[in-house]
Amino acid sequence: MGTPYERKQNESVSDDVVWHNTTVTHQDRVQLKQQKPVVLWFTGLSGSGKSTVANAVESKLLSLGKHSYLLDGDNVRHGLNKDLGFSDSDRVENIRRIGEVAKLFVDSGTIVLTAFISPFITDREQARALFEDGQFLEVFVDTPLEVCEARDPKGLYKKARAGEIKHFTGIDSAYEAPISPEVHVLTAGKSIEECALDVVSQLSELGYLSLGGDDGAL
Ligand code: ADX
Repeated sequence: MGTPYERKQNESVSDDVVWHNTTVTHQDRVQLKQQKPVVLWFTGLSGSGKSTVANAVESKLLSLGKHSYLLDGDNVRHGLNKDLGFSDSDRVENIRRIGEVAKLFVDSGTIVLTAFISPFITDREQARALFEDGQFLEVFVDTPLEVCEARDPKGLYKKARAGEIKHFTGIDSAYEAPISPEVHVLTAGKSIEECALDVVSQLSELGYLSLGGDDGAL
């Protein structure tokens, strides 16, 4: 049977729902904001530093005059996705919705940073498939499980090991690491500032950031 959203997923959009073209176009918004909209899709284990590093990267983008928005797993699960838990199917739906929201933000001309564990490769690939080439960059916040568990900022690994939380990523639920992420940050032994600078410099090397340039920079 499944939940209402699972049932809905199997249905196609009704013929009576027609895409409405807006007068203000994507290009108009891009022109106004003077930046190349893109999704920076942060993925990594709980406690890997996704949210913290994404937050620091967003501050750097702000100081460069960029229009951005950070979608964070814990925050989105307080609102839009508060009906979802951590079973495999709920995580799939969590990531599907975030992909769609990120797509709307990109359409608005915004640089979107998403910070979700997003543990499954296929879901991240499905999110990527919503975007045009070059609009989706996977950012792997690569922190070994032992380090995340030693940090345990929310005490969740301890609870998971004690069996008080089920389906915890890295403990009794899988994490499929990216195979060839566009941006790869090895966080162990580095400060947040160093990690954020690392992301920004990799973005720059990829040609996504040119400080004050006009070559299609972010
Ligand atoms: S995802 O797997 O669906 O992408 P998401 O990033 O939204 O996860 O949420 C992860 C956050 O939820 C973690 O940082 C942690 O604070 C909290 N959490 C609560 N239960 C779990 C669990 N079973 N597995 C992973 N994270 C959990």
